[in-house]
Amino acid sequence: MYSEKVMDHFQNPRNVGEIEDANGVGVVGNAKCGDIMKMYLKIEGDVIVDCKFKTFGCGSAIATSSMATELIKGKTIKEAMSLTNKAVAEALDGLPPIKMHCSLLAEQAVKAALKDYYDKNGGIPEEYNDYFNVLNEDEHEHGEEE
Ligand code: FES
Repeated sequence: MYSEKVMDHFQNPRNVGEIEDANGVGVVGNAKCGDIMKMYLKIEGDVIVDCKFKTFGCGSAIATSSMATELIKGKTIKEAMSLTNKAVAEALDGLPPIKMHCSLLAEQAVKAALKDYYDKNGGIPEEYNDYFNVLNEDEHEHGEEE
């Protein structure tokens, strides 16, 4: 049911923890399953020099947040902002359909942390607003429950 990569990131999650001097922190949750993710970003200039996470949730939530941190670490804000839940799931060689919402939570956690960074630094540039729409979505709009 789960790929080897999902099992690996669940059992050996990367970048777990907190960043004390993080300048972008985001917390998101899924009301249905009750899982919560907290994402810490350390951004210097335009680059995410460090990121860590804490996830109180299912194995897929842990695996997707672990993979998300790997995918954005060392990348530019723009690249991190472009990360989709599908890309996270693909990087893990897929997730069962009923677990896709866990990857959505990972995408939302990254976006929430980036939003926090922008809120502290003059606001989200207008041309980037669309990247943050996902913060208002829930799994229904992605149709994972069908
Ligand atoms: S079951 Fe909800 S995030 Fe995994």
